[in-house]
Amino acid sequence: MEILITGGAGFIGSHTCVELLNEGYEIIVVDNFSNSKPESLKRVSKLTGKLIKFYQIDLLKQDLLEKVFQDNQIEAVIHFAGLKAVGESVNFPLKYYENNITSTIILCELMQKYKVKKLVFSSSATVYGMPEKVPISEGSPLKALNPYGRTKLMIEEILQDLYFSDTEWRISILRYFNPIGAHESGEIGEDPNGIPNNLMPYITKVAVGQLEELQIYGKDYSTIDGTGVRDYIHVVDLAQGHVLALDKIKKSTGIHIFNLGTGKGYSVLEVVSAFETATGVKIPFKITQPRSGDAAICYANPLKAEKELNWIAKKTIHDMCEDSWRWQSRNPNGYTKNEELKNPCLIQSEDFLIPNN
Ligand code: UFG
Repeated sequence: MEILITGGAGFIGSHTCVELLNEGYEIIVVDNFSNSKPESLKRVSKLTGKLIKFYQIDLLKQDLLEKVFQDNQIEAVIHFAGLKAVGESVNFPLKYYENNITSTIILCELMQKYKVKKLVFSSSATVYGMPEKVPISEGSPLKALNPYGRTKLMIEEILQDLYFSDTEWRISILRYFNPIGAHESGEIGEDPNGIPNNLMPYITKVAVGQLEELQIYGKDYSTIDGTGVRDYIHVVDLAQGHVLALDKIKKSTGIHIFNLGTGKGYSVLEVVSAFETATGVKIPFKITQPRSGDAAICYANPLKAEKELNWIAKKTIHDMCEDSWRWQSRNPNGYTKNEELKNPCLIQSEDFLIPNN
């Protein structure tokens, strides 16, 4: 039996592939490379010494996706694929609703048809909107503030309706806080298109000399030093959370929601300082206007995941900075090779591809 991973070439997806392969799972990755590159999967294969069955498919193409269900023995799905840029979602809401929501419906319809009813879904702390109080528990009020956030919230609701209509479904919804860091090998990491929107990739691009200085959005929040506070979580800890969430739904029925965060908040200035300490690289910055829609403070209560998944984030902010920097400094331009893969194919290592049909 195999695990289907949508969006498996992306930042969190690729790290989760590594953890699943290391746990002995066989995986099938579906990705359209809209925000990722084939090179990440080759490196996953190289890191683990394992094969990855791969299909380059857009999830909106139901007939192509159906073939994946027909041709394989899929046991469960981890669904990462989706668009994730908040600002872009405000400008192109329909693109977000179609890409994120329609594709999830298509995926779930096929899962239902082929009786694959175990799903781990990639949600986000964005569903809490502007939190009224911290730490944020899973039962805290939900309110998405932009189209991207609404797609996550709507998908969560769709999945709940699906479960209530058919309790054979077993679903884990994982609400990520702020994933940063990279695999400690420096082989895989975050590789955003264009100028990064998020703090850590922006910092590493400044550190590597590709951007001049960090702009810190606001200094008058009611926080320790006036800058925004977030719960940064190492992507490898997050990836391990997916393996445990999968274990959970293999063992028990129901729909489960978990925060995946460390439970500790760091301000922007604290992150800059942790990065400088961990790497010895100075980050020039200037303070600018707050970014619209940003909360002052956001951090998780992660106790439910600890209790029910036996999951705890182990890596420190120092580890996160060190690993982000190892990835960026060894790969200043991210994944540079961008050759075509055969479709479908078996990815075995950096340069060994076997056609799969
Ligand atoms: N920040 C800066 N300068 C930058 C980028 C960010 O000062 O160049 C600040 C932000 O104002 C915020 C903090 O750094 O205080 C973190 O910002 P990010 O953009 O890295 O992350 P967000 O918390 O805004 O959003 C992230 C993801 C969302 C997700 C959310 C969940 O980008 O997709 O976490 O909490 F929904």
